[in-house]
Amino acid sequence: MAIKRIIAIGSAKGGVGKSSITASIALSLSKHTSVGILDADIYGPNQHILFNINKKPKISKKLFNPINKNKIKIISMGNILNNDKAAIWRGPMLSGAIKKLINSTNWGDLDYLLIDMPPGTGDAYLTIFNELKIDDFILITNPNKLAMSDLKRTVSMLKKLKINILGYINNIIFDTKIDIQDEYFESNNIKHLGTFQFDNKIYNFDLKYISKISNLISDKILSST
Ligand SMILES: Nc1ncnc2c1ncn2[C@@H]1O[C@H](COP(=O)(O)OP(=O)(O)OP(=O)(O)O)[C@@H](O)[C@H]1O
Ligand SMILES: [Mg+2]
Repeated sequence: MAIKRIIAIGSAKGGVGKSSITASIALSLSKHTSVGILDADIYGPNQHILFNINKKPKISKKLFNPINKNKIKIISMGNILNNDKAAIWRGPMLSGAIKKLINSTNWGDLDYLLIDMPPGTGDAYLTIFNELKIDDFILITNPNKLAMSDLKRTVSMLKKLKINILGYINNIIFDTKIDIQDEYFESNNIKHLGTFQFDNKIYNFDLKYISKISNLISDKILSST
């Protein structure tokens, strides 16, 4: 079992498009490479919904077999717990659940494992970074001062943990005044990987749709190896 590259996709801010963009990029990457998605959002898993997966992963030799959908291997707490049940675990239980997902999944060989990160900067992050060797982090933000403020906290944590930042993606979900703070990214040497606009096919996630922007970002990921 070998994973060539692990890329975490996130931001401390909730609702900026982490899960939707992770799934879109996975669809683009899967055209040329073998891709997996680890949905690390234990309290609010979403990948099983985006990929329309209702079954539980099979277990063999005490390991979860990720579920194959659109040529992508996916594991999400949403498929392990009963669908609409909330996980109401305290920190140590949360860390335990993440560790279990990470260490008990048989990914086989993968070119890319994308991690759909939960919002926040707490226990979940530390556990994931302790358990896995993250090669790169992709930041997602909205062009909004609240999203930017949370993103800056994420960047400061990533710098402390010495995690490589591949770049940021701007997700313009709302048609509104744009406050992206280019100078912040320039002064911190964080590359712009691309900008998503509001897109109905992303909003009502269409698994047959591969957006031009996610293709462009996936090309940048491929060329950065
Ligand atoms: N580019 C886009 N076009 C249309 N809708 C979008 C786009 N990006 C995200 N959305 C929508 O915005 C909402 C938030 O997106 P998503 O759940 O992917 O964000 P998130 O950062 O993963 O949230 P959370 O912090 O809860 O995990 C969802 O309803 C999603 O369908
Ligand atoms: Mg999410």
